[in-house]
Amino acid sequence: MSALAGQTAIVTGAGRGIGRAVALALAREGAAVTLAARTRQEIAAVAAEIREGGGRALAVPTDVTQDTAVEALVDQTVAELGRVDLLVTAAGVAAFGPVSGSKPNDWDAMLAVNLRGAMVCARAVVPAMTRQRRGTIVNVASIAATRAIAGAAVYSATKAGIVAFSRVLAEEVRGDGVRVGVILAGATDTPLWDTIPNAPDRGRMLRPEDVARVVVLMAALSPRAALEEITLLPAGGIL
Ligand SMILES: NC(=O)c1ccc[n+]([C@@H]2O[C@H](COP(=O)([O-])OP(=O)(O)OC[C@H]3O[C@@H](n4cnc5c(N)ncnc54)[C@H](OP(=O)(O)O)[C@@H]3O)[C@@H](O)[C@H]2O)c1
Repeated sequence: MSALAGQTAIVTGAGRGIGRAVALALAREGAAVTLAARTRQEIAAVAAEIREGGGRALAVPTDVTQDTAVEALVDQTVAELGRVDLLVTAAGVAAFGPVSGSKPNDWDAMLAVNLRGAMVCARAVVPAMTRQRRGTIVNVASIAATRAIAGAAVYSATKAGIVAFSRVLAEEVRGDGVRVGVILAGATDTPLWDTIPNAPDRGRMLRPEDVARVVVLMAALSPRAALEEITLLPAGGIL
């Protein structure tokens, strides 16, 4: 029996990188998956891959910075797939550089997607999960939330923010049978690094499938157990 048979998941950032690997892994474990990101062709391709493997997928183009779009994403999932057992917030953007050379306007996208967007998504699934008295929210943060990496101040602030948000939300909803976990992932070889100058050695990074495996573990644990905070690093350490 597949670990997530009969369950329904929403994965943001599902078009590529970590979100894509998470969506494919959840589907392999039997979950029906709603794929959300802005690029229609990318989520459609992942949905096709899931269906070819015999799974069930729904591609819903969504910008997580648009609150009404996020509400519609959850409504459509419940309407078409019946319930929402799992939310994985893997939508994210990254830009690096020293604070002194940055412009506050350039910080807005990271704050809007990585922090506010993830919070809005989590808020949107809580009513359905509470009604079901069952659900798991997994936020994809970063090791940058807890370790000081020069050039990553704003990115780190968004990730530390989502760690703090996850901790508090976990306390608020655990009585309703809802679990909230957060993954502090180290460098992972995804398209996110394509445009970043002087990226670390991509051959030594985690693979998106490594992160996906941890998500499956968090989601498939018995309801009496909760994995709430996991640090997953390349075995070689922070790169
Ligand atoms: N790669 C790493 O080393 C690493 C390490 C630790 C944590 N993380 C975190 O893991 C998450 C995924 O990163 P990744 O490396 O997989 O990045 P990626 O390969 O660049 O993929 C990012 C995904 O997020 C989506 N996205 C971006 N802005 C969005 C928006 N406004 N609304 C909806 N979706 C949006 C993108 O699709 P569209 O552009 O089509 O919307 C894409 O599907 C991020 O939160 C990142 O910070 C990454």
